[in-house]
Amino acid sequence: MSKKEAFITHLAEGQKYKKDSIILGTGILEGQPINRAQVRVPLKTMNRHGLIAGATGTGKTKTLQVIAEQLALKGVPSVLMDLKGDLSGLAKPGELNDFIKNRSEVIGVEYVPMGLPVELMSISEEKGVKLKATVSEFGPVLISQILELNATQQGVIAVVFRYCDLNHLPLLDLKDLKRVLQFVTNEGKEVIKKEFGQVSSASVNTIMRKIIELEQQGANRFFGEKSFEVDDFVQTQDGKGKISVIRLTDVQSKPKLFSTFMLSLLSEIYETFPEQGDDDQPKLCLFIDEAHLVFSNASKDLLEKIEAIVKLIRSKGVGVYFCTQTPTDVHDSILGQLGLKVQHALRAFTAKDRKAITKTAENYPESEFYEVSETLTSMGIGEALVTALNEKGIPTPLAHTLVRAPISRMDILESSEIDELVNGSQLVAKYNEDMDRESAFELLEEKMNRVEKEQEKAVLPGPKPRTASRTPKEESLLEELSKNTMVRQLGRTIFRELTRGILGSFTRRR
Ligand SMILES: Nc1ncnc2c1ncn2[C@@H]1O[C@H](COP(=O)(O)OP(=O)(O)O)[C@@H](O)[C@H]1O
Ligand SMILES: [Mg+2]
Repeated sequence: MSKKEAFITHLAEGQKYKKDSIILGTGILEGQPINRAQVRVPLKTMNRHGLIAGATGTGKTKTLQVIAEQLALKGVPSVLMDLKGDLSGLAKPGELNDFIKNRSEVIGVEYVPMGLPVELMSISEEKGVKLKATVSEFGPVLISQILELNATQQGVIAVVFRYCDLNHLPLLDLKDLKRVLQFVTNEGKEVIKKEFGQVSSASVNTIMRKIIELEQQGANRFFGEKSFEVDDFVQTQDGKGKISVIRLTDVQSKPKLFSTFMLSLLSEIYETFPEQGDDDQPKLCLFIDEAHLVFSNASKDLLEKIEAIVKLIRSKGVGVYFCTQTPTDVHDSILGQLGLKVQHALRAFTAKDRKAITKTAENYPESEFYEVSETLTSMGIGEALVTALNEKGIPTPLAHTLVRAPISRMDILESSEIDELVNGSQLVAKYNEDMDRESAFELLEEKMNRVEKEQEKAVLPGPKPRTASRTPKEESLLEELSKNTMVRQLGRTIFRELTRGILGSFTRRR
C-alpha cells in the first residue's frame, strides 16, 4: 500500500460515523490535497467545545464561518461573538470563482452560494437587536463578581437584594442599584440596621465607585429592560439554524463590559436550557472570535467563573468554540477538554513564537504522516491541522486539511444591507423599544417625597416618640409599594430567586 493509500484508509477508519456529520475539507499529504479524503466532524460531539487557532490572516474566521454555515444547514443555530465585525457576510450568498470551484472539486462538495438566516445583535450602539439583562436577573452573586467585591461588600449587595425582594422594589438597571445603595446608608439606614445589621458606608462608597467604573464602559446600555430571552437564540428558519451575530467591535476596549455580558449569557443559557442527554446534534454552538482580545483583560475571578460554566454547559447541548491566535490564550483547564481542534499556521519569528509552536505541537496527537511542528509553520492560508472527537469520544486522526470555502459572502455587508437586515428583523421589533418602567429608583424617590410631606404634616401635633419598631408610616408605605409592583414582580423574579440559589451554591462549591 502506498503512503497515500495508507493515509486515506487511516483517515476513513478514524472517521466512521453512524450519524450525521459536517464536511470541513479534504486531507493534504506532503503538500498535495487528496481528492475526496474528506475530513468531517460528527454533529454528535459538537457540544464538546473546540478551538480554532492560528496567526492573523491564516483563515480562522473563515473556518468559523464554514462551521457555522454547515451547522445552520443541519438545522443547528449558533451565536457568533464578532469582535472585529468580520461575520455579517453570512447573511448574503458568496461568489463562485475558479479558485473556489477547484477547491470545492478536490474536496468533493458542490458549491452552492447561499445566504444564511442571520440576526444582527449588539450590547452597545451597533445596529441590531439590543441584548439586555436586568440587575435583578443577575442576582447578588454575579453582580458581586462583576464588580469584583470583597466579602464585606458582597454582604452589602446581598442585603440590598434581600431588601428589594422583601419590599418588591424591582432592580432593573444600575440607576436602581445605586439608588438603593444610597437609601441603605441614608434614609433607610435605621430600617436596614434593624433588619439586617449595620451596613458600612465605606463599603457602600466602594461599591458605588465600582458601579460608576462599569458605567463608564457603557454598561448602562446593557443593564435594563427588555431582557433578552435566550430561547430566541435557538430558532430555525426554513429548517436552517439561525445565526446570531453579536457585533462587538466597539467593546474590545471594554473588557469588563464584555466579560459581564459573557458571564450573563452563559449563566442564562445554563439556567434556562434543560439537561440534554446524549443527543445526535448540539442544541446551540457559541463561537468567540478573537477570544484573546477579551480574555487577556478579564479578571481572574471572572475567568474562573466563565470557565466553570463552560465546563457545565455542554450537558445542555451547547458547544463553545474559541478562536484565538495561539492555544496558549485559552486556559489549560479549558484546553484539556476541547473536542475539536483546528490549528491554522503559526509563524516562527521570535523565540517566544518558537516556544509557542513547541507547546502547541504537544497538544496534538502524534501522527505517522506529519511532523507536527514543521507542518504548523508551513501550512497555507485556509489550511489547518484538524482533530475532532469521533462518536465514541476518541480523537480522530490528525489531518492537515484544506478547509472548504464559505458558501456565504466572505466580505462584510454594506451599511445599506445591514439596515435592511435590521429593519426586517422580528427580534428587533420585540426588543428595541426603550423601556424605563417604574423601578426601585422611581419607587424610592416617590417614597421619600411622601415621607417628607407626611413629616411636615406630622410636625403640627408635636413630634411623636419614635419607637424601635417600624413606624406605621413606613409600614403603610412599604405596603403601598408592594401593591404597585406586585404584578410585575411575578414570573421571572420568582424564578430568579430559585436560580440565584443555584448560582450561589455553584460559586461556593468551587
Ligand atoms: N476556507 C477558506 N476558503 C477560501 N478562502 C479562505 C479560506 N480561509 C481563508 N481564506 C482567505 O484568507 C483570508 C484571511 O482569512 P481569515 O479567516 O480572515 O483569517 P484570520 O481570521 O485567521 O485572520 C480570507 O479573506 C480569504 O481570502
Ligand atoms: Mg479573523
